[in-house]
Amino acid sequence: MVEMEDISIAFGGIHAVEGASLNLFPGEVVALLGHNGAGKSTLIKILSGAYRRDGGEIRVGGRPAAIANPRDAKALGIETIYQTLALADNVDAAANLFLGREILTPWGTLDDAAMEAEARKVMGRLNPNFRRFKEPVKALSGGQRQSVAIARAILFNARILIMDEPTAALGPQETAQVGELVKELKKDGIGIFLISHDIHDVFELADRVVVMKNGKVVGEAQTSAVTKDEVLGMIILGKCPPGARPGPGAMAD
Ligand SMILES: Nc1ncnc2c1ncn2[C@@H]1O[C@H](COP(=O)(O)OP(=O)(O)O)[C@@H](O)[C@H]1O
Ligand SMILES: [Mg+2]
Repeated sequence: MVEMEDISIAFGGIHAVEGASLNLFPGEVVALLGHNGAGKSTLIKILSGAYRRDGGEIRVGGRPAAIANPRDAKALGIETIYQTLALADNVDAAANLFLGREILTPWGTLDDAAMEAEARKVMGRLNPNFRRFKEPVKALSGGQRQSVAIARAILFNARILIMDEPTAALGPQETAQVGELVKELKKDGIGIFLISHDIHDVFELADRVVVMKNGKVVGEAQTSAVTKDEVLGMIILGKCPPGARPGPGAMAD
């Protein structure tokens, strides 16, 4: 779905990301890990069109992708679910799903029934326990708001989702709910980049882990091929264990 190759970007003299490569397959969850300032958000913002890379190649679906702004990324099916979810607080889930592309009746008025039916269909798959269709989204829990934001992205034909710290502000039950959501999305072949500080979440949800340090990729591994301690060693020391493939940022032995 996505191949980022040898990506670099500098701000002033600071190499925020240097020679980083990252890819994603359909239905795969790839976790991006590393300390604050490691370059995770910057690398992913190059994919979402928020920053323009200084060097490197991006291919989406095998084709070179000139992503210069967020619109380009969205047109390629790439959507970011931000921590501060961009929802309209005072209207309900259906209105949020169709914000800016409302379904109209033949008379040009809002077709609320059609939008609610469609909202129930999408939300019913992503979050079957969701019942609060008539309430403004500000009344919803963090996990429910998250599912509305993701449903909106899916309705916009997103195939590649970027989730930056999706469970940072959520309690254990809500975090589990987001986990269920991720599993549903995988079944549909949606690919997900998951940026997370929570190594337990990562081991629960990610198929593969990629660790960054000082702007460089330390290494990548199938989650099943490494232990939590080994991944912590990658994050803290930049030490690549035997089960991982070293990147340019791996500490020399
Ligand atoms: N817009 C920017 N201007 C200047 N420096 C930036 C900007 N964005 C990120 N950086 C710098 O790039 C480095 C990587 O940051 P970031 O990608 O946010 O790390 P992470 O998400 O892993 O915590 C940091 O040194 C940060 O200060
Ligand atoms: Mg960040």
